[in-house]
Amino acid sequence: MSKDLPTPDRSQAHDGTLPEGRVGIALIGSGRMGAFHAETVSLRLPHARLAAVADPAPGAAERLAGTLGADGAYTDVTQVWADPAVDAVVIAAPARSHADLVVAAAAAGKGVFCEKPMAVTLADADRAIEAARTAGVVLQVGFNRRFAADWRAARALLDAGTLGTPRLLRSLTRDPGGFDPSRVRPDTIFLETLIHDFDTLGFLNPGAQAVEVFATAGALVEPEWSDRGLLDTAVVTVRFDNGAMAVAEACFEAAYGYDVRGEVLGSGGMATMGDGRRTGMAFSSAAGRVVDTVRGDQELFADAYTAELAAFVDAVRTGTAAPVTGEDARAALAIALAAAQSVRAGRPVRIDEVER
Ligand SMILES: NC(=O)c1ccc[n+]([C@@H]2O[C@H](COP(=O)([O-])OP(=O)(O)OC[C@H]3O[C@@H](n4cnc5c(N)ncnc54)[C@H](O)[C@@H]3O)[C@@H](O)[C@H]2O)c1
Repeated sequence: MSKDLPTPDRSQAHDGTLPEGRVGIALIGSGRMGAFHAETVSLRLPHARLAAVADPAPGAAERLAGTLGADGAYTDVTQVWADPAVDAVVIAAPARSHADLVVAAAAAGKGVFCEKPMAVTLADADRAIEAARTAGVVLQVGFNRRFAADWRAARALLDAGTLGTPRLLRSLTRDPGGFDPSRVRPDTIFLETLIHDFDTLGFLNPGAQAVEVFATAGALVEPEWSDRGLLDTAVVTVRFDNGAMAVAEACFEAAYGYDVRGEVLGSGGMATMGDGRRTGMAFSSAAGRVVDTVRGDQELFADAYTAELAAFVDAVRTGTAAPVTGEDARAALAIALAAAQSVRAGRPVRIDEVER
């Protein structure tokens, strides 16, 4: 979180009724991503207010709630379900807790925004989707790239028919490095990193379903990780039922910073997305030409992270469907699980072979 936050307007603190039109949101999980989302809810969304923060780590919820002026600070997440000031939740807890949290939040009648991945098994994804459907609450998943200007513009070209029928697609993610190996599992690169790319491929090939996945992966950044089966670099090919072919790739370290790009080659032309430059300025001198690149995800996608939460708040306020659904999350998860399975088996894996 930035250190120079404006002081929150405490006159909007909850007094038993919602400030008019404002959706009361509880943040669940106040780590790196959660703190950014809480700041967005509190400071950047006119129709939302941060009602509570929940995190089991001692002092974490209190700290963030105090900084941002939220009334509720809970170490026991179940207290969120009973808080009448909370209309909806933003889940940014670790991936393996997501499905249970979605189910519990929906059962309590709260709208749900869940960071990716929504679940780590297809059975849990189905459980989460069903819980939201039964409760009649909004369920949106954090595929922020759909809200980034380049990706939106490419999708608009597809929707207008200008790009024609997608034939080749690509999506890539390169992280800036410097991560903690103790937090990485063998499937992290598929379930938490490439899942964005798998969603992007679906977003840019609307209506098509993935049918087969072939992945190769290794530990190139941290070669000693291979003994533990950990993977930091991967290439995945995906075939879709409309014939389109796609490549997704990821690496946990790029010396120049965070880099996300996409491309669609359609029958009507090509669209490319993503430019990691911090500004459009290039400095030319006797030493050559230099551009300044973005270092991290929260810098590159700041606007997209805000836009996705604004869309969620609108869906909760107006009772309309979320723009990124539990089904979208399930489709991306199926590709991620197929990719992990493909690496283990050393062969292509059909989506209908994926273990539930
Ligand atoms: N959309 C994106 O670009 C993006 C970027 C980064 C992270 N994420 C996702 O956000 C989620 C969180 O990632 P992070 O990097 O902030 O992790 P983090 O480890 O920094 O934070 C996780 C927080 O959740 C808390 N927590 C643990 N168990 C919990 C539980 N059962 N209920 C509530 N809180 C719990 C921890 O105490 C910690 O404060 C992950 O799913 C990750 O994949 C998304």
